[in-house]
Amino acid sequence: MSETEDSSCVYKNSNAPVEARVQDLLSRMTLPEKIGQMTQIERSVATHGVLTDYFIGSVQSGAGTWPFEDAKSSDWAEMVDGVQRLALASRLGIPMIYGTDAVHGNNNLYGATIFPHNIGLGATRDADLVKRIGAATALEVRASGIHWTFAPCVAVLGDPRWGRCYESYGEASKIVCEMSSLISGLQGEPPKDHPNGYPFLAGRNNLVACAKHFVGDGGTDKGVSRGNTISSYEDLEKIHVAPYLNCISQGVCTVMASYSSWNGSKLHSDYFLLTEVLKQKLGFKGLLVSDWDGLETISEPKGSDYRNCVKLGINAGVDMVMVPFKYQQFIEELTDLVESEEVPMGRINDAVERILRVKFVAGLFEFPFTDRSLLPTVGCKEHRELAREAVRKSLVLLKNGKTSYKPFLPLDRMAERVLVVGTHADDLGSQCGGWTKKIYGQSGKITIGTTLLDAIKAIVGGKTEVIYERTPAKETLASGEGFSYAIVAVGEPPYAEKRGDNSELTIPLNGNNIVAAVAEKIPTLVILFTGRPMVLEPKVLEKTEALVAAWLPGTEGQGIADVIFGDFDFEGKLPVSWFKHVDQLPLNADDSLYDPLFPLGYGLSCNSG
Ligand code: GLC
Repeated sequence: MSETEDSSCVYKNSNAPVEARVQDLLSRMTLPEKIGQMTQIERSVATHGVLTDYFIGSVQSGAGTWPFEDAKSSDWAEMVDGVQRLALASRLGIPMIYGTDAVHGNNNLYGATIFPHNIGLGATRDADLVKRIGAATALEVRASGIHWTFAPCVAVLGDPRWGRCYESYGEASKIVCEMSSLISGLQGEPPKDHPNGYPFLAGRNNLVACAKHFVGDGGTDKGVSRGNTISSYEDLEKIHVAPYLNCISQGVCTVMASYSSWNGSKLHSDYFLLTEVLKQKLGFKGLLVSDWDGLETISEPKGSDYRNCVKLGINAGVDMVMVPFKYQQFIEELTDLVESEEVPMGRINDAVERILRVKFVAGLFEFPFTDRSLLPTVGCKEHRELAREAVRKSLVLLKNGKTSYKPFLPLDRMAERVLVVGTHADDLGSQCGGWTKKIYGQSGKITIGTTLLDAIKAIVGGKTEVIYERTPAKETLASGEGFSYAIVAVGEPPYAEKRGDNSELTIPLNGNNIVAAVAEKIPTLVILFTGRPMVLEPKVLEKTEALVAAWLPGTEGQGIADVIFGDFDFEGKLPVSWFKHVDQLPLNADDSLYDPLFPLGYGLSCNSG
């Protein structure tokens, strides 16, 4: 009778305690099987031979690697289950865990509900809303077969020049701590007596979460992606470590190491932070995964002396390595390091225990395949209404001028003739921003959703004439008096990570001039679709009647129309200080010299004006 057929296999017994299952399975594993569990590869190399020959423990879809473009959730489920079947065919039948960046809904999946990016959710200050978004996201991701999302990013934003500003919930640690409620939505809420630090997952409708990027990713000098956070340990702990306490108390299953450095020490090789702080002091008992080829960032130039990078990273506390392609080299190097005792076997066993613990807690041994009954949840009406609510609550009203007898907003939906202008008025991809369909995002009609223009046309009265011009024609503006008002939608094109690092922060695509040209002639509302505060030139500030920060709202543009036409009032509050000019940066509310254009927490309502 083979091991896996032996009914006395404790690890196969779903009624046995998790720790007993972990230890039983660990005791049966060879070194190659253990190191295989520590290896995460990208789907495009997850072939039959690789999965079985290297005992691979995890596979991921790097943002944008679909089964094929615009694949449906059933296609995704087929793909993931196919990989799972390969993994289960191994000697011990250990299921693989499949991960992806579902950071504002299942953003890889065509037709999925795309929620506002984190900076907009931070503006809502609504932890319960964020938790409900987590629960909805979990359904739409599990429907595609995927078990694990690399979210939430719990970076505390230090400087909006950072290309990942929109992935942060804001500049105040308190806001980020509260919005970490996404984890309880994704994974389910642990019982009150759940042991602190132990991973938790409620069931098959829930998704393994990942608090990232540990630690200090949002606090780098000048907001440089993968840069250096310079601070005392006390400040690092008070500002950047604090959200991880909330994540761990919610039973977060995984944490991802940061590419950045702390006082010159690369996080991926920092034993003090990864092991002494995260695992010992905070008591984290889930698995710590590297970032995408994160071990290579330990050395300069990146990837040089890879063997030493593997040694430093694993000994520092990395449990699973997001290789994602060089799996042979990683496995060979780590095997050699163990055999030469440069990486202790105890470290390998600790890493594999953590990985198996998460897999048992996640129910992967009992339910390794997709629950196809979840397929109808993808992009369902209920989730889109939830996203619409989130959009409404994320909008921040920065200015609302008064006409002779009433505030400019809310707009008159029965107006005779309305001009809608701008690069972001009718562009779903730009409305969603980066990490949508592809890592860097893509403008245009990339998925199913409602643009601002669609939403305006749907809400105005039947007799209202809506004229749309992406770029306003001179003739249109020359006859400006024919319009009751104009709505100008400008902002940033999609970007992610380092491609978003920006020290100028002026509204791209000639945004300021478009606004000025229209506002010169017609009473104008400006809606900014940006991942962060941007330079607002006086001609924008002074010449416009009203100004709204919409951040990167996702697919449900109706949420904007709901508010600017008065079905709901504004309630969003700035999650980040809005600077006057970039040479003030970094600018944070607790600075002694604090002179923002709009302070952290600022936000008007139509009644307050
Ligand atoms: C990226 C990001 C990280 C993401 C990972 C996998 O480089 O830093 O946030 O989860 O790779 O896509």
